[in-house]
Amino acid sequence: MNILITGGNGYIGSHACLVLQQAGHGVVSLDNLSNSRADVAERVARISGRPLRLVEGDVRDRELLERVLRQEKIEAVFHFAGLKAVGESVSRPLRYYDCNVGGAVALCRAMAAAAVKVLVFSSSATVYGEPARMPVAEDCPLGEPTNPYGRSKLMIEQILADLSRADPSWRIARLRYFNPVGAHESGLIGEDPSGEPANLMPYVAQVAAGKRESLQVFGTDYPTADGTGVRDYIHVMDLVEGHLAALEYLRRHPGLLTVNLGTGRGLSVLEMAETFARVSGRPVPYRVTARRPGDVAACWADPALAQRLLGWRAQRSVEDMCRDTWRWVSGGVGGARE
Ligand code: NAD
Ligand code: UD1
Repeated sequence: MNILITGGNGYIGSHACLVLQQAGHGVVSLDNLSNSRADVAERVARISGRPLRLVEGDVRDRELLERVLRQEKIEAVFHFAGLKAVGESVSRPLRYYDCNVGGAVALCRAMAAAAVKVLVFSSSATVYGEPARMPVAEDCPLGEPTNPYGRSKLMIEQILADLSRADPSWRIARLRYFNPVGAHESGLIGEDPSGEPANLMPYVAQVAAGKRESLQVFGTDYPTADGTGVRDYIHVMDLVEGHLAALEYLRRHPGLLTVNLGTGRGLSVLEMAETFARVSGRPVPYRVTARRPGDVAACWADPALAQRLLGWRAQRSVEDMCRDTWRWVSGGVGGARE
């Protein structure tokens, strides 16, 4: 198939481009490079051995999208483009709603106009808010996300459900990611956060690399085994392989698919920091600080539905996640940006 990847130069999008190319699909990345670099497409091409076309543009530009969909004979779209910094979404809510919600609407309108009706969307476990039960299954009541970023994901999920109800010929997957980490094993592509990382894994990696003095552990008084927050970290390669499985499912079933992409295993902040130190052979010093506002104590997926419907399950271990992140960060390419 010919597939358009919005945000294809970003962290998850670049790994998706690679896996889709390796599965034999034709891939075009559309990215405005607001949070990524043009040379990512070249690095993906180096690994896959196939050129990756980058269209530099904004997902809110309907005319451009329609043109690309038609010219490239696109048959499906993976929609990764969006803004994802939770803290910034609180201070700049309009920017987030415009880019995330406005972007999704513009994309769907362009797709409808070009009669491309297969869409895989990056949602997030954040739509569950404070989860009502653990592990979190897809039929868990949706919560109230604590920030505009989370609300934008919930709004897009609702828009896609309305679209599917109005026109059942759409084939839409809403994939709820837990905590994507890790990098491709080549060390050529990975997460490249600008400035101080907000998320645990890139922060730990920068501490191990000596770029930051110590990790702040946000609270040790949670009702968890060691008192620190517990999350379901999933290797980015497992995550994008889940997208491929979702695409195969959509090819067989029209309608709306909603699945969690997680491992089903929870890890604490301290377990993650200790594993990273062991795998990298570098110390990860830490100090305990207050809880981060908006954090939940624990959140991990029930991955059974993805296994049943998609025949997909995460394969890689936490050691793999740490090793591949370390290769990326210590290899000179990752974390090059400040
Ligand atoms: P990322 O920032 O690395 O990638 C997003 C890409 O989209 C970037 O390359 C950026 O330049 C591009 N982009 C942003 N706005 C754009 C626009 N208006 N037009 C065109 N391109 C635009 O983020 P990521 O971690 O790869 O996340 C991809 C998607 O997955 C996002 O929608 C994010 O909300 C979602 N998600 C991510 C996580 C996570 O932990 N990384 C978790 C859950 C959901
Ligand atoms: C965060 C976002 C969530 C988003 C998800 C994507 C917040 C509040 N939530 O989730 O909306 O969907 O990323 O992956 O930002 N931690 C530390 N020290 C740090 C960083 C994190 O102790 O320097 C702890 C956190 O308190 C948490 C765990 O590490 O317990 C994971 O944090 P993080 O990587 O930011 O992910 P989430 O909070 O799950």
